[in-house]
Amino acid sequence: MYKLLANDGIDPLGKRLLEEAGFTVDTAHIPQEELAEKLKGYDAITVRSATKVREALIDVCPNLKLIGRGGVGMDNIDVAYARSKGLAVINTPAASSLSVAELVFAHLFSGVRFLYDSQRKMPVEGATNFAGLKKDYAKGIELRGKTLGIVGFGRIGRETAKVALGLGMDVIVSDFIDVPKTLSLEFSGGIKANIPLRQVDLENLLAEADFISLHVPFTEKPILAKEQFEKVKSGVGIVNASRGGVIDEGDLLDALNSGKVAFAGLDVFENEPTPRQDLLSHPRISLTPHIGAATNEAQERIGEELAGLIIEFFNK
Ligand SMILES: NC(=O)c1ccc[n+]([C@@H]2O[C@H](COP(=O)([O-])OP(=O)(O)OC[C@H]3O[C@@H](n4cnc5c(N)ncnc54)[C@H](O)[C@@H]3O)[C@@H](O)[C@H]2O)c1
Repeated sequence: MYKLLANDGIDPLGKRLLEEAGFTVDTAHIPQEELAEKLKGYDAITVRSATKVREALIDVCPNLKLIGRGGVGMDNIDVAYARSKGLAVINTPAASSLSVAELVFAHLFSGVRFLYDSQRKMPVEGATNFAGLKKDYAKGIELRGKTLGIVGFGRIGRETAKVALGLGMDVIVSDFIDVPKTLSLEFSGGIKANIPLRQVDLENLLAEADFISLHVPFTEKPILAKEQFEKVKSGVGIVNASRGGVIDEGDLLDALNSGKVAFAGLDVFENEPTPRQDLLSHPRISLTPHIGAATNEAQERIGEELAGLIIEFFNK
C-alpha cells in the first residue's frame, strides 16, 4: 500500500478517491523544517504553493516517487532535478482556469462601479455622507460594448475571453503564439456560438483596449511598465491575476496617480506574502490575496484530477 502526504491539504473528493484506490493519505501539515525527517516514510507528496520541495529534500527521501502540485505554477518544486532523479512531477493546470477568469470579472465589475472604494468608505461615511458618496460613485460605466485586451491566451486567457464575450464585450488578444481565429461559446440550454477573435500585437492592444487583463506565466521583465503605460488609453482598467512581477508595481502606482490608469485589480503581487503597503492602501486598487483558484469548484476539480493522475501513475 502506498503512503501519500497531502502537505498543503487536498479536497475531500480527491482524498476519498485515493483511499478507495488503497492509498493511505495523511493531511496533517508537516512544517517545512521537519519534512526532511518525516517525508522519508512516504511514497508521494502533494503540495499547493506553500510547501517547498527542493533538491535537498528530494535527496534525503529515496522512497519518494511522485510530487504532485494541486494547481498550475511549480515554482516551489525543483522540477527538473526531481525528474532527473526519476521522480514523477505532476500538476493540474486546467482545473482552476474558470475560477481565475471569474475573479478577473469580480475586479472589473468592482472597478467600473467603484466597489473597491465604496466598500472601504460606506462603513465609515455611509450614514453621514450618503449623498456625497452617491455623487462620488455616480460615473460608473458598463462593460458591455467595451474592449477587453487579453495578454496571454492560454487556458485562463481563453476562459476570460469567453466570459467577456458572453457579457457582450469585444475581445482582442495578444500572445507569442498564433491563437485560434474563433472561440466557441456554450450557453445554458445547449446554445452554441463561434465568435471571431482578433489577435493583435501588444502595442495595438495597449492602444485599443478599454480594459487589460494579464494571463502570462512569470516573466523576468514586466510586460506592463512605464513605457507601456504611456501607450495605454487614458482611463484604462488593468487586472493582474497571473503572477506578481508581470506588472511593474511602482510604474502602475505612477500611472494610477497620474490618472492614465483609472483603476487596477490585483490578485497577485511582486512581494508575496508581504505586498508593498502603498499598493494595499491605494484608493483605486481592487485587492484580493491570491485567491484566483480558491473556489470550492476549482479545489474539487484539482483534488479529483490530482487523485486520478496519482492512481494512474502508481497503477502503471
Ligand atoms: N491568481 C491565481 O490564483 C492563479 C491561478 C492559476 C494560475 N495563475 C497564473 O495565471 C497565468 C496563466 O495561466 P494559464 O494556465 O492560462 O497559462 P498557459 O500556459 O495556459 O497560458 C499562458 C499563455 O501566455 C502566453 N505568453 C507567455 N509569455 C507571453 C508574453 N510575454 N506575451 C504574450 N503572451 C505570452 C503563452 O504563449 C501562453 O499562451 C500563470 O502565470 C499562472 O501562474 C494564477
